[in-house]
Amino acid sequence: MGLEFDDAFIQAEEHRPKPYISEAGGIPVIDLSPIIAGEGEAFSGLVAEVGSACKNWGFFQVINHGIDGEVLERIHAAAREFFALPLEEKRRVRRGEDNPLGYYDAENTKNVRDWKEVFDFVTSESAEIPATDEPGEKRTDLFWNQWPDYPPEFRDVFEEYSKEVEKLAYKLVELISLSLGLPAKRLSSFFKDGMNFIRLNHYPPCPEPQLALGVGRHKDSGALTILFQDDVGGLDVRRKNDGEWVRVKPIQNSFIINVGDIIQVWSNDAYESVEHRVSVNSERERFSIPFFINPAHYTNIKPLEELTSEENPARYEEYNWGQFFKARKNSNFRKLGKENVQIYHFKKALLAN
Ligand code: OGA
Ligand code: NI
Repeated sequence: MGLEFDDAFIQAEEHRPKPYISEAGGIPVIDLSPIIAGEGEAFSGLVAEVGSACKNWGFFQVINHGIDGEVLERIHAAAREFFALPLEEKRRVRRGEDNPLGYYDAENTKNVRDWKEVFDFVTSESAEIPATDEPGEKRTDLFWNQWPDYPPEFRDVFEEYSKEVEKLAYKLVELISLSLGLPAKRLSSFFKDGMNFIRLNHYPPCPEPQLALGVGRHKDSGALTILFQDDVGGLDVRRKNDGEWVRVKPIQNSFIINVGDIIQVWSNDAYESVEHRVSVNSERERFSIPFFINPAHYTNIKPLEELTSEENPARYEEYNWGQFFKARKNSNFRKLGKENVQIYHFKKALLAN
């Protein structure tokens, strides 16, 4: 038994996907091979490309990123085999309110149910997050990964992938740091003890693809996302220059990179975290695998001093990353009777002069 369509999945009319979403005029594609040289003209060109993609789109695709196509085939196959298991089997590693890691098939985005199933794990042994989202909460909870028994190679495949994608994430963070005019390693130390995690998304064929979404429109709350997708397509990005939704065209052996809320705040809005969503279809199931790189839970996030000045004052109040994450998790787990926490809630009321 898979998902069964009911009213909980129905999006408000203004958020339903149009029947045709264009792939034309989509996000930039960036060749990462100049990273190997590490300096010189091609490398400076790369830094500039990354900077303009972050500024104008908040999203880009990368090719020649150094992760072997075979590794991507293995994670895709392992995800496919896991989600093909009977529901009782998947529920043995189910997430609960006491452990947000594992399998789950009833996630909400902005209080509407998503047409998907997910499996979450952290790339470290365990993860610590605040016990509640109350300001000043000092208690934390510790969570462990729940690995399924099938397919048997699942854990090894994803542990290998975690190491590789983490390396790529660090390189991208350095490029972004340079593109903001900062030293290459300026942002790197924030990720020590980081709470990085990987999500497997499975979007089964949907009987009502015009009414529902695989994931409702949202912004990623972490620092940076590195997403693998298969060849089906369905990720829609809100284009900054006109607000239109554009479909990201699948490119084999590429990754999709997007800036999350934390980079938006650090950069004081120079790089905005852009809205995206997943459209589904009635014929083909789709798999995607995002990796989210994040600071440790105790990190407070605020605009970087080097990027603010008297003319460009800090636009955000400082906030605690762990508590923001905890509040989001609560809202994904069940429908709340209030608006979910969003980054603009931390925006300062700028004084008019
Ligand atoms: C996400 C997400 C996009 C996709 O999981 O945050 O935006 O293509 N996924 O699955
Ligand atoms: Ni997302």
